[in-house]
Amino acid sequence: MAAIMTQTTHTVPVSLGDRSYDVLIGAGVLARAGEIIAPLLKRPYVPIVTDETVAGLHLETLTSSLDAAGIKSMPITLPPGEATKSFKHLEELLAALMDAGVERSDMIIAFGGGVIGDLAGFAAAILRRGVDFIQIPTTLLAQVDSSVGGKTAIDVPQGKNLVGAFHQPRLVLADTSVLGTLTMRDLRAGYAEVVKYGLIDDHEFFAWLETNGPALVEGDEDLRAEAVRHSVAAKARVVAADEREGGQRALLNLGHTFGHALETAAGYSGDLLHGEAVAAGMGIAFDVSAHMGLCPPEDASRAKAHLRATGLPAGISDLEKRNSLDVPDTQELIRLMGQDKKVSGGKITFILTRGIGKSFIATDVDMDQVADVLSKRQAA
Ligand code: GLY
Repeated sequence: MAAIMTQTTHTVPVSLGDRSYDVLIGAGVLARAGEIIAPLLKRPYVPIVTDETVAGLHLETLTSSLDAAGIKSMPITLPPGEATKSFKHLEELLAALMDAGVERSDMIIAFGGGVIGDLAGFAAAILRRGVDFIQIPTTLLAQVDSSVGGKTAIDVPQGKNLVGAFHQPRLVLADTSVLGTLTMRDLRAGYAEVVKYGLIDDHEFFAWLETNGPALVEGDEDLRAEAVRHSVAAKARVVAADEREGGQRALLNLGHTFGHALETAAGYSGDLLHGEAVAAGMGIAFDVSAHMGLCPPEDASRAKAHLRATGLPAGISDLEKRNSLDVPDTQELIRLMGQDKKVSGGKITFILTRGIGKSFIATDVDMDQVADVLSKRQAA
């Protein structure tokens, strides 16, 4: 593979023994997908699972590249949006993959954002008891988080990502030039997951984001590529150390327990994007931590100020204003949090913080303190 790399392509390995794989990051990597993927295929045929938006913008680039490498492709196009991560679409996708003649030794390409990656990855995990797949993430959120690490899932009315499997991809191709076609709203939503890495354990990266985040969001391609490389390297380290979230991988859920409750309440509609929910959830996590005396209030203010400076919500009141969301009351939010995958022995696991870059796993949190903060609804 080294022979076809250009200087602009950066490789981040995800070290998982015989299931290790590379994340190739760089502008233009999509147009070289065929030659990169060809050596991984048992036969020159690959179904591409994508959505209508991505198909309209980028499918031609991918299929031309596959054609040029002598690989026949079969696009399967789904509707865009979180509602596609459902049993209904999983069933339809599995039928389409079987109708496309997918064999046990074939490879599936997941070509899109987090929704397509999670859904196609889960279909690959269960079709014929497991088929290999490649992630080609086209959103910032998918490039920095969901395409790496093997979490696949669908949403159900009871909660987000509650039905799924760990199934690692064989390769991830992150073409940073496709980020230029994202809407500003999608770009910002993905940026929330970038900020997350700084807030978890990387104060220096957070400070870099404070300086460079606004220009990155506005469109600076070099800053975007730098942020993707840094984020993927952070994610790869965590996944290699704790693939199945027995411990430290849970830190990657900063903002997610609150965020998933907000997403479930919003019915997985376009009214609230996953990254927006995570941003608000991170603001709430800092507020709860400050309220409990764990985190200096200045750090909570700083974290929320940066989220807002890049156009993201930092709490419930922001969501109500910016997204015109009717956020449920405290009791309902706590009930929804109780459905989280991370509930153990009836207790919700939270990711709280002692400050920027000092997040930790908290398993015995006083729910009255959480309720106090949620009741204020206000991220000051
Ligand atoms: N998005 C969190 C994780 O992959 O663990």
